[in-house]
Amino acid sequence: MDSPELVQVKHLTDTYRLLDNTFRGAPAASRQQVRTDFPLFFAANNLRNRRVISQQGQIICHAGFSPLRLKLGNVTLKMAVVVLVATHPDYRRRGCAALCMKSLQQQLQDEDYDLGILWTGVTGFYEPLGWKTAAPPGYYLNPIAAGMPCLNHHLNNTPPFEIQKYSEMDHFHDVMRLQRGQPVRTMRSPADFRQLLSLPGIQAWGIQRKTLEAYVVTGTAVNKYGILEYAGQADAILAGIAKLVQEQWVAPDAPLPVFGTDSKMASLLQAHQIPMTPLVSCKGRGTEMRLILNAQRVNTVVERELFVWGLDWA
Ligand SMILES: CC(C)(COP(=O)(O)OP(=O)(O)OC[C@H]1O[C@@H](n2cnc3c(N)ncnc32)[C@H](O)[C@@H]1OP(=O)(O)O)[C@@H](O)C(=O)NCCC(=O)NCCS
Repeated sequence: MDSPELVQVKHLTDTYRLLDNTFRGAPAASRQQVRTDFPLFFAANNLRNRRVISQQGQIICHAGFSPLRLKLGNVTLKMAVVVLVATHPDYRRRGCAALCMKSLQQQLQDEDYDLGILWTGVTGFYEPLGWKTAAPPGYYLNPIAAGMPCLNHHLNNTPPFEIQKYSEMDHFHDVMRLQRGQPVRTMRSPADFRQLLSLPGIQAWGIQRKTLEAYVVTGTAVNKYGILEYAGQADAILAGIAKLVQEQWVAPDAPLPVFGTDSKMASLLQAHQIPMTPLVSCKGRGTEMRLILNAQRVNTVVERELFVWGLDWA
């Protein structure tokens, strides 16, 4: 077994195969592929943030991260979203994934990252590497159908609006403006927005009056399902989601994460006694883990506000 090495172009085909087999099932059965699900992660400029281990020329293990800037009010954190950690089933429990993670974590330290974040079903693998389970602030409404009394109330009591399928020509700048008005958000370049808004199984919607007042992103992908992101006026978002359900663009069984303690959304839903559970992770389900690298910058106050919207999930 070789040591972990940086991913090179010659490794790509083998790596896609390992990752698709691990996370997407047999190619014929899956309508999604990791390569198109994570375009920013697989971009050429991210090769240096990935590791592979080979055995006799075959890739048997992979791990990597996407670098993100997360803004929480006035604080900007340098964050790594760890993704696509996999060892071929024939080579598990030989220390491969741990070696890749240790190499990546050394890089995070050397490059002054503030924290790492990931979502996993295998907490026992990450705990010895220093990762800790954490939950973000907020609530989870699952399914949306349980919130219809509140959603319909806002739909029926709001000035008329149009719900428009996102088009880059009409909505791109307004969506960026609204996302940039969020108190907690990742910093995305225009190119990042373009890639994220055209992910497979993703649809964005504009809530349009005179101007675009809000946007909502919905997903039917295996890795991104339900309401994934929104920004703008809380009542316009609720009315917009009600219309999406009414017009059958969103399934009533889809979930809706309600971010944070400062969100008006939570109080509007609570005013209608809508039953919501506290968020256990930004994804609503599964386990979220964090690796705090700079405890001064990522203090308990900052940690309590930390939240990552669906388009940025790994
Ligand atoms: C999780 C996974 C990447 C681990 O890869 P691996 O190369 O077998 O891991 P390692 O051999 O480096 O494990 C190091 C240690 O982590 C822990 N560990 C590994 N796999 C574990 C598991 N499935 N459950 C609990 N702890 C585990 C053990 O302490 C292990 O040491 P030990 O074998 O001496 O007991 C691999 O099982 C895998 O590909 N799983 C499917 C994909 C997946 O779930 N990836 C994680 C997504 S976030």
